[in-house]
Amino acid sequence: MREKILRLAVIAASTLALVGGASAVIAEPAAPDTDERHAAGPLVIGHRGASGYRPEHTLASYELAARMGADYIEPDLVITKDGVLIARHEPEIGGTTDVAAHPEFAARRTTKNLDGTPTTGWFAEDFTLAELRTLRATERIPQFRQENTIFNGRDRVPTLQEVIDLAKRLSRELHREIGIYPETKHPTYFRKQGLPLEPRLVETLDRNGLNHRRAKVFVQSFEVSNLKALDRQLRVPLVQLTSATGAPFDFVDTGDPRTYADLVTAAGLREVAGYADGLGPDKNQVIPRDAAGNLTAPTALVRDAHAAGLRVHPYTFRAENNFLPTNLRSSAVLADYGNLFAELEAFFAAGVDGVFTDNPDIGVAAR
Ligand code: G3P
Ligand code: CA
Repeated sequence: MREKILRLAVIAASTLALVGGASAVIAEPAAPDTDERHAAGPLVIGHRGASGYRPEHTLASYELAARMGADYIEPDLVITKDGVLIARHEPEIGGTTDVAAHPEFAARRTTKNLDGTPTTGWFAEDFTLAELRTLRATERIPQFRQENTIFNGRDRVPTLQEVIDLAKRLSRELHREIGIYPETKHPTYFRKQGLPLEPRLVETLDRNGLNHRRAKVFVQSFEVSNLKALDRQLRVPLVQLTSATGAPFDFVDTGDPRTYADLVTAAGLREVAGYADGLGPDKNQVIPRDAAGNLTAPTALVRDAHAAGLRVHPYTFRAENNFLPTNLRSSAVLADYGNLFAELEAFFAAGVDGVFTDNPDIGVAAR
């Protein structure tokens, strides 16, 4: 990415020089600046906001994350029937809203093939924004986050524009810039329904003055082809997400046999660096667990990614025992908090450049 944009800048500058009859070449760098973004140390990314403390992907969750010290807030993006980008983790909205309690939408319940998995529920792309505005957000995992359920029903599903507006407002109030870290969710799925996410994302970043190399923005995706296309349109850093298993769905869809495991080899990472600036791996790809679930030793991933010129932001760090390595749990009660500090410290020691966490306060403290 860096090389390509730099080359374009030189071509543009040379063309200008020819037209103007001058001989100087403008030397302004055009690649996204990831060094600047990491100058103060590893980043704390508020995963779905501060979703350990509020229902995910609500303005309340993002605001709390920023107030807890998160450098970035992370909206996952899906799209409405009328083409508005909204913050939800997946197209199916029954798991994080009260849509099931709305009899007027009962007939919208359906089963769709979501990246090869039959999925039943209500889907964002079958609702207009006005219809979605009548719903309220609810806690996804009440069995682990009972306290979050007291906020059920209090917040609407936000648009990307509202997330940007919130980040701008809080940046002014807190006297530090709150970044945004949007993820394109299921790009192939939405493109096939005639609702591609990318044009709306580019347009929104453009309109908000956020498509330049210093904008405090990262854009992430689990697919590859949409990141490659975005590399031609965005000047902010791009992040290739990887899972510990499986393959990018665009690869599956086009018969490309490569998997996420191929992407995280030293050669695969060099290829990723051709269109992206960072890697967002499953944390188990950075420090795996043994058969008993205990944290082991770091793999070569951080070293290889850095050698390829990629920053590394693993996901997802959560305080509840259920999500922690066995040796860092506080008890057998899965909803209780364990030692997230120790887990984060192990990953910072392994050299990661940022962390996605549901508990940004603990992320900031551990950093
Ligand atoms: O985007 C980083 C992390 O959020 C990826 O996992 O499924 O929580 O979006 P997911
Ligand atoms: Ca995400």
